[in-house]
Amino acid sequence: MFSKKLGAVGFATLLAMFLSGTAFAECKFVGTHAGEPPFTIKVTDADTPEAKEFLETCKNPYTKRFVADPELAKKGKKKFGLYSCTQCHGGDGQGQTGPAVIDDLWQYSKHTTDKGLFETIAGGSDLGMPTWHQQLNGNPDSPSTDEILMIIGWIRANFKGKDPEKPWLK
Ligand code: HEC
Repeated sequence: MFSKKLGAVGFATLLAMFLSGTAFAECKFVGTHAGEPPFTIKVTDADTPEAKEFLETCKNPYTKRFVADPELAKKGKKKFGLYSCTQCHGGDGQGQTGPAVIDDLWQYSKHTTDKGLFETIAGGSDLGMPTWHQQLNGNPDSPSTDEILMIIGWIRANFKGKDPEKPWLK
């Protein structure tokens, strides 16, 4: 009797997991602020296939493409200028009042992954990086998922550090 009951509960749990299957596939972000709870970003009608893929898999489809084609990577650099990231990080990301984004001196070890970089750019940090994602700061003129992904693609394509591993290409 007891084991039968357990079996029923187990089955109900499995069924619930199956029915909400897409929720499990969603990329869950760990905020960079100390003690910040995990957050998700909603897929919108305006999202590109690349943005949708990232929100599902946590993998940035622009990275390999931009690294292979510096001409294409300029799309990301344009966004880096458009949103005045240059004011703190310099015109080429070489660093100014903010740290360089093109060397391998990462502020947080998770920045060797595109998911980690996305978390800091989208959500901001305690040490002066503003919150940029339009869904998180409530400003529709702020960058979208797609624009942040293009910027990350450019940061990877413009990498001047020595790390032979380049974990973001894996
Ligand atoms: C007001 C100044 C300021 C602006 C504007 C700004 N940042 Fe930052 N950013 C910072 C600071 C300061 C840090 C370091 C934060 C920390 O260590 O917690 C940082 C960190 C970063 C990092 C991590 C760098 C590393 O070495 O690990 C990236 C990537 C980054 N910013 C990208 C951007 C992008 C993209 C934009 C534009 C959308 C932007 N930043 C705009 C100040 C700024």
